[in-house]
Amino acid sequence: MKSILSGIQPTGDLHIGNYFGAVQNWVRLQQDYECRYCVVDYHSMTMPYKATQLRENTWKMVFYLLACGVKPENLFIQSQVPEHVELGWILNCVTSYGELQRMTQFKDKSDQLRESDGEAFVSVGLFDYPVLQAADILIYHADFVPVGKDQEQHLELSRNIAQRFNHQFGKEYFIHPQPLFTEIPKLLSTADPNRKMSKSLGEKHYINLFGEEDRIRKQVKSAVTDTGDTPAGEMSAGVKNLFEILRACGALDAHQSLTDDHNSGALKYSDLKEATANALVELITPFRDRLAELNADKRAVKQQIQESSVAIRKRAQQTIQEVRELTGLASIK
Ligand code: TRP
Repeated sequence: MKSILSGIQPTGDLHIGNYFGAVQNWVRLQQDYECRYCVVDYHSMTMPYKATQLRENTWKMVFYLLACGVKPENLFIQSQVPEHVELGWILNCVTSYGELQRMTQFKDKSDQLRESDGEAFVSVGLFDYPVLQAADILIYHADFVPVGKDQEQHLELSRNIAQRFNHQFGKEYFIHPQPLFTEIPKLLSTADPNRKMSKSLGEKHYINLFGEEDRIRKQVKSAVTDTGDTPAGEMSAGVKNLFEILRACGALDAHQSLTDDHNSGALKYSDLKEATANALVELITPFRDRLAELNADKRAVKQQIQESSVAIRKRAQQTIQEVRELTGLASIK
């Protein structure tokens, strides 16, 4: 069976863009692949954060992922397998400064830091982020990495790192991981459909997968549909966005009949909004129920994840032992 690895940062809330863009796919892939999914808390240290918040958000993300259908035996917390960091260090030594400088995500994030605070502190960790990501993948010899297009460059880097390592140490040791791009619906902010749905814009811009039903309904109801700059007869960005959400939720019949309404000029936005809110609530209800069950025995769930981290760590430890051998590090007794 081919293997998969992917990671997600513990950002607090999980919005529907994250769900349709990543998590839904992770859940499906579990049927056909050996899957390992991690909550990448080491990566979250590369931007300003609070220690207590990080730990809380890490567990929150674990619970959300489980509630969405990720199997506990496939899920672990990155920092509970500290071998990722050791491999990251070793891979640092086969990565050039120049290639990290070319990473666009580093440029974006360091610009973001400079904008938000004049005297920005840009850490070496942020610069080195893609090498740790390569270690996450290579340590399990993963064949495929399901990611969004924004991670294409990082994936290419991890293949270059694998190749350089193999060349330098004279063995085809690491395989070259391939990205698995999935079709991701492009969801826009419901408050400002000129922008992408994103957590960083603030609460009213994204629909929280585990938000209160009431709030979701209100948010959809007040979604911006007309921005005044849409040519007659065309669909505005906000209306298109609602259709997109409807389709992503799998409400294809409603999608079809409302599209027909639009084409005949009879579409009522209130109908579209109601159908979209209903579809979202229907999608979310089983997740919320499962989350409530998981929350009823938090300790047992945490215990389960600790155990899967221990089991997954064994594979990482084996890689590290082989890598230490290949690279000339002293052995540990
Ligand atoms: N960089 C990824 C993101 O921002 C998260 C990530 C960390 C990741 N390690 C990974 C994704 C390993 C895939 C594989 O989305």
